[in-house]
Amino acid sequence: MATSVAEEIKPLTERKAWKALEAHSQTIRESHLRDLFADDPRRGERLTVEAAGLFLDYSKNRVTGQTIRLLLDLAEESGLRQRINAMFSGEKINVTEKRAVLHVALRAPKGASILVDGENVVPHVHEVLDRMAAFTNRIRSGQWTGHSGKPIKNIVNIGIGGSDLGPVMAYEALRHFSNRDLNFRFVSNVDGTDFAEAVHDLDPEETLFIVSSKTFTTLETMTNAHTARTWLLEGIGGHQSSIAKHFVAVSTNAAEVSKFGIDTANMFGFWDWVGGRYSMDSAIGLSTMLAIGPENFQAMLDGFHEMDEHFRTVPFEKNLPVLLALLTVWYVNFFDVATIAILPYEQYLKRFPAYLQQLTMESNGKHVTLAGERVNYATCPIYWGEPGTNGQHSFYQLIHQGTRLIPADFIAFNRTPNNLGRHHDILLANVFAQTEALAFGKTAEQVKAEGTPDWLVPHRVFEGNRPSNTILADELTPKALGRLVALYEHNVFTQGTIWQVNSFDQWGVELGKALAQRIIPELENADEPNLQHDSSTNNLIRRYRKAKGL
Ligand code: F6P
Repeated sequence: MATSVAEEIKPLTERKAWKALEAHSQTIRESHLRDLFADDPRRGERLTVEAAGLFLDYSKNRVTGQTIRLLLDLAEESGLRQRINAMFSGEKINVTEKRAVLHVALRAPKGASILVDGENVVPHVHEVLDRMAAFTNRIRSGQWTGHSGKPIKNIVNIGIGGSDLGPVMAYEALRHFSNRDLNFRFVSNVDGTDFAEAVHDLDPEETLFIVSSKTFTTLETMTNAHTARTWLLEGIGGHQSSIAKHFVAVSTNAAEVSKFGIDTANMFGFWDWVGGRYSMDSAIGLSTMLAIGPENFQAMLDGFHEMDEHFRTVPFEKNLPVLLALLTVWYVNFFDVATIAILPYEQYLKRFPAYLQQLTMESNGKHVTLAGERVNYATCPIYWGEPGTNGQHSFYQLIHQGTRLIPADFIAFNRTPNNLGRHHDILLANVFAQTEALAFGKTAEQVKAEGTPDWLVPHRVFEGNRPSNTILADELTPKALGRLVALYEHNVFTQGTIWQVNSFDQWGVELGKALAQRIIPELENADEPNLQHDSSTNNLIRRYRKAKGL
């Protein structure tokens, strides 16, 4: 069932602004960014917004003032304002799971009040944060020791999806702020190689496992957690009591945590109103806090909160996440764009594109509306990317000269903590050069004027008119990371609101999970199973069993 807000909203393609955008897109399609810039000498200064420490230049998009006005109308007609209020006030907007969506409460300051079912959840958030900080201080000071009395040196986070991608991304992003006396490893894949390689050089006596799982039932995570327990017990002489010293859990499921053998005193909780892909700032961020310390973690939360307040209060025409989302809708629905590239020019953000893949695609990769009706328009594009400048020597060829339109977000920082010689100037010159080349290209006349033989000219022409956003911040600090992640969280929310999908469920992962549970015994049982799949699946199972010698 849809929420009351959703019910008042017209289907997307029947909204007035949608129809106007359809007509308007026909004219814009013909315009080139070269002309848009030539017609307005201040375009590159006008089409920018700065807020919460982030500067967004969206001038190199195929839009005019009219486009932006119509997109803003679309946001209004889509009930975005009401939807934002509904989320921030704890309404159960995740209608298929009947849950509130309150990752914003995870970074609300002490003293704030956000009600779920009449109860203020903010004090609970801070109680867990305080417990995490106390635990972190004990580990970092060496006060918490392993079973044999040695301090903990290695932290292994076991989790998958939102219980892995956020922690890995944040650890990599904030490495400069991390305690280098501690080693961090992340195990997610059920492929045993992931675990084996993560622990191969670790001393069990100095190793702490964080089993991170909202449900504490996820196949991959529980398989890895059991393997970790065996590895630990074998490594330290089978003392069951050692589990309490070497395993902690992050979960919403206390019953399963204690069934696994972890004392719930060593469990850090969160709540069903935190979606997995929106959880890196909950207790799921325990590994992050261990790496960077409680104060830096709090700075990251402050950054998230700053962007939350920006999103909640600032008019849409100056609202960073709203503008980014509207541009995505523009390209996906009116230019048939299928993919968006995320290109961080910051090595520490090397896992950011992977993190965003779950955030964006698990959220908005949906084909029915909140009311359960099949959509008649495209929804979430495919997000992908690599840190610059590596991608330039790989897939940028296609972005510059291929046949597909691929809008890109370039993310860069004015300063680096690793200021080696000319590296940073060269890095930033590449950001500015790439967005310029994408937008303006190089005409046949320009290529000819360089003395290029006629036969080679078409190969060396850059059509340009390839859109990009540039997001520029001062330096990648914990606060800046919080702001950046919240920017994309609310971008995803806005997209989902316009497309009228539920950005907070993930039913699309269920079928494969259920089938795998059915197939596991068919691969393991000594007796020939009575296979009832299709002929391809049956055949593949038989081949594998034969290869195993069954
Ligand atoms: O892939 C499905 C999913 O439910 C994600 O949404 C989630 O982040 C991941 O699995 C891990 O779930 P859990 O934290 O419950 O182990």
